[in-house]
Amino acid sequence: MINIRCETLADYTVIAEVNTLAFGQENEAKLVEEIRRSERYISELSLVAEFENVVVGQILFSYIDIVGEETLQVLGLAPLAVHPQFQRQGIGSALIKAGLEIAEAKKEAIVIVLGHPEFYTRFGFQPSIVYGIESPFPVPEEFFMVKLLQSYHQRYKGKVVYPSTFDGV
Ligand SMILES: CC(C)(COP(=O)(O)OP(=O)(O)OC[C@H]1O[C@@H](n2cnc3c(N)ncnc32)[C@H](O)[C@@H]1OP(=O)(O)O)[C@@H](O)C(=O)NCCC(=O)NCCS
Repeated sequence: MINIRCETLADYTVIAEVNTLAFGQENEAKLVEEIRRSERYISELSLVAEFENVVVGQILFSYIDIVGEETLQVLGLAPLAVHPQFQRQGIGSALIKAGLEIAEAKKEAIVIVLGHPEFYTRFGFQPSIVYGIESPFPVPEEFFMVKLLQSYHQRYKGKVVYPSTFDGV
C-alpha cells in the first residue's frame, strides 16, 4: 500500500508540509530546501513514501564529513518525517530500510544519524563512539549513531562535521 520512490520537483511543497507538521516547526523543511540547493544533495537518496498517491513521509540522506587524519565523506540521515496521521504504521521504518538498501548499492561506507536509540538500533545503528567517530553535538553518546555498511573500513575515524546548511536546525 505504501510506495517508496525518489522525490521529484512536484513533491517539494508536500514534503515541506509533512516536515513542518511532523516536527511542529519549519526548521527541517528549510533544511531540506537548503540541502537540495547544495552540492551535498543526493537525488537517489531523497525518498518519499506515498499512500494512495499522496506523499505522507520523507527521508533525506546527504553527504557530511568525518574529519580525522583524512577527511572522508559519509552519509548523514536527516531529516526523517512522517505525517502525524500516518505515524506508527511502519512508514518511517520502511523509508529507513529503503534508504539503507540504496546506500549499500551505492557502496557508501557509513550512515550517521542523531536520533532516538530505541528506534534506530532496530536498523543496526550503534553509538558512533564505539568506532571512534565523534559527535559534533553535546548529546549523550547513545543518541549519535552510525550504521556500518559493507564498504566500511577502519579508517573512518574522527569527528563528524556537518555542512553549515545544518546550522539552523
Ligand atoms: C520518528 C518518525 C519518523 C517515525 O516514523 P513512523 O512511521 O511513525 O515509525 P514506524 O511506524 O516505522 O516505527 C514506529 C516507532 O517509531 C517510534 N515513534 C514513532 N512515533 C513516535 C513518537 N511520537 N514518540 C516516540 N517514538 C515514536 C517508536 O519507537 C515506534 O515504535 P513502536 O510503535 O514499536 O513504539 C515519525 O514519528 C516522525 O515523523 N516524528 C516526528 C519527526 C521526528 O522526530 N523525526 C525523527 C528525526 S531523527
